[in-house]
Amino acid sequence: MQDKPTVEIRLGLPSELRRPAVALYYEAFRAKFAPLMTLDEALRILADLLNTEQAIIALDNGRLVGFAGIQHGKRMLFRLSLSPFVKTLGFFRGLFVYLVLSLFGRPYKKGELLMDGICVDKEMRGQGIGGLLLKAIFDFARQHNYKTIRLDVVDTNPGARRLYERMGFKPTVERRHLFAQTLMGFSRSTTMIKVLESPEK
Ligand SMILES: CC(C)(COP(=O)(O)OP(=O)(O)OC[C@H]1O[C@@H](n2cnc3c(N)ncnc32)[C@H](O)[C@@H]1OP(=O)(O)O)[C@@H](O)C(=O)NCCC(=O)NCCS
Repeated sequence: MQDKPTVEIRLGLPSELRRPAVALYYEAFRAKFAPLMTLDEALRILADLLNTEQAIIALDNGRLVGFAGIQHGKRMLFRLSLSPFVKTLGFFRGLFVYLVLSLFGRPYKKGELLMDGICVDKEMRGQGIGGLLLKAIFDFARQHNYKTIRLDVVDTNPGARRLYERMGFKPTVERRHLFAQTLMGFSRSTTMIKVLESPEK
């Protein structure tokens, strides 16, 4: 039987973990990324665009096994900029991929912390790491006086939705995505909100 991981949760991604973070993110969101670019292209483009201070990470003996992005102070997990896309993918493909990824940008709302993606290493799922990352986000949000936490979950991901519900998120608005259905296989997403009232027990 495998030992339970002794996971350490930290705020901020050390710079040397940029590439492992992109690899983990790409693998976790393969359905979104694979139609747009290869893993090698994603590593070349996205590793430098990571805003490392916008991540809450999980380490197992120094190895990155999961992380969640947070939009704190208007900065997203990735600082999207056209030129690295064009440099790696050429003008037309680079512009297309940049525009598609830009569509996933979400508006900033004062007083609300936005969760900008969460992922756990495939081999380590179902052991509570996702829950630990969410709890760390709740603590961060309280320390910075946020009242609510918002995230979006797609209809093809009922497992993640169950986890969010268990952690106190409630569904609010539902959106249809016709373009994403053709390219990435999901047709709807739901915005979920957690209201932070008292310290987490
Ligand atoms: C969603 C995710 C971060 C959960 O991380 P985790 O460490 O497995 O989460 P926990 O162990 O704390 O909780 C397990 C819960 O996650 C959900 N889950 C989703 N996908 C899972 C998977 N492949 N394996 C195990 N649990 C999964 C289940 O609802 C499970 O709850 P259950 O025991 O009631 O079924 C992880 O599955 C993941 O990285 N998925 C791919 C990326 C993704 O979909 N991110 C969410 C985008 S909105």
